[in-house]
Amino acid sequence: MTTTSNWIEVCSLDDVEQEDVIRFDYGDRTFAIYRTDRDICYATDGHCSHEKVHLADGLVMGNVIECPKHNGRFDISTGAPMRKPACKSLITYPVKVEDGKIHLQLN
Ligand code: FES
Repeated sequence: MTTTSNWIEVCSLDDVEQEDVIRFDYGDRTFAIYRTDRDICYATDGHCSHEKVHLADGLVMGNVIECPKHNGRFDISTGAPMRKPACKSLITYPVKVEDGKIHLQLN
């Protein structure tokens, strides 16, 4: 794992299937890393804002993640809640893909 500025190397793009999400832990933080069916990557806080359930166990549909516990939904590009009981936004993080690797920028 390499660090440049506050960009963190997460994994290879190939490690995330299209329209899927993986968990990424860094220090004491946890994130959800998404790859859409259009090959765009996003990152949000790992835990749902409703309860402490990891979104990596959820379902990605286009730009939406559905939480595995109560089926709340969020827009993964903005973190905005889209279906109750989710009502608080997720924090999102900049993501870039370079040389086939996904990088996440911490803030
Ligand atoms: S824990 Fe995610 S919607 Fe309830």
